[in-house]
Amino acid sequence: MKMASQTTRTRYVLVGTGNRGTTMWGRELLAGWSSHVELVGICDLNLMRAERARAMIGSNAPLYADFDAMMAELKPALVIVCTPDDTHDDIIVKAMEAGADVISEKPMTTSFEKIERIREAEKRTGRRVDVSFNYRFAPTAARMKELIQDGAIGEVTSVDFHWYLDNAHGADYFRRWHAFTKHSGSLFVHKATHHFDLLNWYLESDPVEVKGFGQLLHYGRNGPFRGPRCKTCPHKSECDYYMDLAADPFLDALYEEPSAVDGYFRDACVFREDIDIPDTMTASIRYASGVQVSYSLNTYMPIEGHHIAFNGRRGRIEMRQYERQPWSEPPADEILLVKSFGGGVERIWVPHEPGGHYGGDNRMRDMIFKPGSNDRLKQRAGSRAGAMSVLTGLAALQSARAGGSVAIEPQPA
Ligand SMILES: NC(=O)c1ccc[n+]([C@@H]2O[C@H](COP(=O)([O-])OP(=O)(O)OC[C@H]3O[C@@H](n4cnc5c(N)ncnc54)[C@H](O)[C@@H]3O)[C@@H](O)[C@H]2O)c1
Repeated sequence: MKMASQTTRTRYVLVGTGNRGTTMWGRELLAGWSSHVELVGICDLNLMRAERARAMIGSNAPLYADFDAMMAELKPALVIVCTPDDTHDDIIVKAMEAGADVISEKPMTTSFEKIERIREAEKRTGRRVDVSFNYRFAPTAARMKELIQDGAIGEVTSVDFHWYLDNAHGADYFRRWHAFTKHSGSLFVHKATHHFDLLNWYLESDPVEVKGFGQLLHYGRNGPFRGPRCKTCPHKSECDYYMDLAADPFLDALYEEPSAVDGYFRDACVFREDIDIPDTMTASIRYASGVQVSYSLNTYMPIEGHHIAFNGRRGRIEMRQYERQPWSEPPADEILLVKSFGGGVERIWVPHEPGGHYGGDNRMRDMIFKPGSNDRLKQRAGSRAGAMSVLTGLAALQSARAGGSVAIEPQPA
């Protein structure tokens, strides 16, 4: 991607004006990086949502429902893709064919064929796809990467990695399109793409074989009752998952009235019988380097956060990130660096930074948009990284559904 100079701003268009597009790549991007970028067009199939998003962003860029018409008229240098996961590939490919670079929200896409399509178009057009792996940029992740890279625990031989979504955040995936494999590839793809990418980045190796388990044990058909959506549900007084959309003016404005246009309800029932993704997942992953990973993802916990431990020949790096729990924790992460053979323990505190993902979102935007940024930890992620993490998730899902372990296709550089 061509970096903006002090005088030239990158002309970008935003595609998809849901929560993520409106905040991360609209309002916040213009608030912090407007000397580097200029928002010249906004596209969403739902023009009422786009109109509201434009007001929230504070822009006067023209609105389009037709992506092709927008590209032809505006000829932007950059397209930022914030639509549902299964629609990314079409937009990414068309954007590059029209001469633009792309930032795609994660996951880059949802199937093997779509990965191939995106990577072929990138090669053919000579454009660039960035994938928004903001977790790489979180200060604690960066510190752990430095420790591993500097050999603090010798060669890493295995990783314990467990991610906990609480019954607010976790449930939210079951309210929307994410709850269907055809749109999200399941949470093994939609959510775990972040986690598998972190592993690939920390370990600097490719996953080669995955054994996964996944079951729908709590949401979907497991619920005691159901309705189409919370707002009209007869069970709202007895449901632990009742969501009052009107209590959140931002979400209410962006989704409630615009749902009349496209029938997209932000508060659909988490117990719908046709939900087909697992809510309880584990995977064992073997890397080309020989590292073994034990991974899990749970979506209805009383806590939110994650635990990761790198086990090495000369020690262990361990970190439990607390995001939400019914007790208080300091606004910082504690990394335990434990050295083998009597080397003792070092407690390393990394303060949380302001902004999404404890500062990761801001650091990522700095890296992408500020000219001359030094990517010494190789945090900026392209289409290969986007592909590898999705392939891991697809392999885990296939293994969970069909049994056996699944090999991951090697990807070209
Ligand atoms: N990196 C992160 O931490 C992070 C966090 C949240 C969401 N995301 C990603 O951002 C993306 C958007 O998430 P969201 O929660 O805002 O979704 P959303 O469903 O709230 O919004 C998606 C918007 O895209 C529009 N849309 C659908 N198909 C379209 C098309 N073909 N062309 C134009 N517009 C179209 C919809 O009308 C909707 O307004 C997803 O890929 C998600 O995985 C990433």
